[in-house]
Amino acid sequence: MAPTGKAASGQRNGETAADAPRRTFAIISHPDAGKTTLTEKLLLFGDAIRLAGQVRARGERRRTQSDWMEMERSRGISITSSVMTFDHDGIVFNLLDTPGHEDFSEDTYRTLTAVDSAIMVIDAAKGIEAQTRKLFEVCRLRNIPIITFVNKVDREGRDPFELLDEIESGLALDVTPLMWPMGMGGQFYGVYDLQTNQLLTSDRGRGGAFSQRIQFEGPDDPKLDERIPEHILSAFRESLELALAGYPEFDPKAYRDGHMTPVIFGSALYDYAVDELLQALATHAPAPRPQPAEPTEVRPEEDRVTGFVFKVQANMDPNHRDRIAFLRLCSGRFQRGMKLRQARSGKTMAVHNPIFFFAQERELAEEAFPGDIIGIPNHGTLRVGDTLSEGAEVRFTGIPNFAPEILRRVRLDDPMRAKQLRRALEDLAEEGVTQVFRPLLGSEWIVGVVGQLQLEVLASRIAAEYKIAAGFETAPYEAARWVTAEDPAEMKRFQERHRASMAEDRDSGPVFMARNSWELNRTIQDWPKIGFHKTRERA
Ligand code: G4P
Repeated sequence: MAPTGKAASGQRNGETAADAPRRTFAIISHPDAGKTTLTEKLLLFGDAIRLAGQVRARGERRRTQSDWMEMERSRGISITSSVMTFDHDGIVFNLLDTPGHEDFSEDTYRTLTAVDSAIMVIDAAKGIEAQTRKLFEVCRLRNIPIITFVNKVDREGRDPFELLDEIESGLALDVTPLMWPMGMGGQFYGVYDLQTNQLLTSDRGRGGAFSQRIQFEGPDDPKLDERIPEHILSAFRESLELALAGYPEFDPKAYRDGHMTPVIFGSALYDYAVDELLQALATHAPAPRPQPAEPTEVRPEEDRVTGFVFKVQANMDPNHRDRIAFLRLCSGRFQRGMKLRQARSGKTMAVHNPIFFFAQERELAEEAFPGDIIGIPNHGTLRVGDTLSEGAEVRFTGIPNFAPEILRRVRLDDPMRAKQLRRALEDLAEEGVTQVFRPLLGSEWIVGVVGQLQLEVLASRIAAEYKIAAGFETAPYEAARWVTAEDPAEMKRFQERHRASMAEDRDSGPVFMARNSWELNRTIQDWPKIGFHKTRERA
């Protein structure tokens, strides 16, 4: 059976059909906006867990059970809670984790290539923050539809219009509110559902946790006056009128095409609009979408089983070189034991022990459907970007490398080990752990990563698996961009002019390394016929 079992035991409607509709999504946010709290509440409202707080607790328990990465244990970070599957009201939800704190990495970006939609969580007091913007840009690369959840409206926050305008102009997205706050902070009375005319409020009145939904005829319903103080209600009515006049109506197609984001004001901590968010996902978020591939895109209804690996997790214990590859299924009906062909090597592998990741535990996956994520244990044969398929010649595209945000020079303690170091770096780059660059001048390697944790993983694996003592030093560069030009002569001129700043990636693709963002912007301006790219398709 596909996702049923434990995660479904709290179902109201009984068993969910194995091939039920899927919603495969991620939450994008800046640290502290409330992603963990919202994840817990989604799992709770989705009946996947009994008590909020278990997302954190689960990590603790699992660490005693398994011998996953040493680093994970010592640092208490949950690199392994990558997928949380739960089923609710006949729909299977696959929530893919996008690690955001110190474990932010290229995997965080790549995970977004495996989802069909995203929830963008914004702190009502802070608006759009740096990491949200970065993750949003990755969503935009694939036109991933986004539902926005403005969190913490129970606290003093910024004016709703200011927040909506920031999304609209800052991210170039049309916005349409689905819920509207009634007061904020000390004057918070709840949120009003514009589609159903229900007020989500607390039976304790001002500031309490969500406990009741009250039906009204509309925002002008006199019954509202009986419950809400005059000054709060008049401000609410006035702002809502402006909002209704000023923002377009929700357009499901514009949302699915990635041009419009419905906005839900709520509070994850106090349960406001969490259920509405889940409903919005169920009703509006797309089912598994066709995936870009060569020779042609793969549609989920195709019979042959296909999928791609978007993440590989290694066990740091050198005696257990096992890995888990996370495969997003794109078409067909997968069954345990099935033989799948790896496009890169042309070899066939039998998948005997695929794993499902439920909210609270893992299970052998007997059967899986498009949109599902299965973990495949392997000894290093599967790599990020790999396509697995039933027979047919197909290769998924659009699982790129992302421009590194941290660049370091590799310092080798024993120069006699240069060849081994090269092999280690090339291996680990192929696996997707890091990116490597070879400057045109000089002989030292530069490694590029998106987050600090990636560097630490790299260092431990070089030491544990390749027995090489190497360290990382500050490199004179802050940014890297892949460069292309239609005119080879222009590219040659560019490379000659910037010889000291040029490097090659592991596929010999030309990369421009800038000392700082000023230099990068200046160079982009000065060379209009050169394309500067933040992503590059993995070869
Ligand atoms: P993250 O995963 O995005 O980093 O955020 P997380 O959920 O851990 O939330 C960050 C902080 O914001 C937590 O407080 C959390 O309780 C609080 N928070 C989340 N959602 C809401 C909300 O809707 N309203 C209010 N008022 N607070 C919210 P903390 O004090 O840092 O941690 P904790 O001790 O409460 O766990």
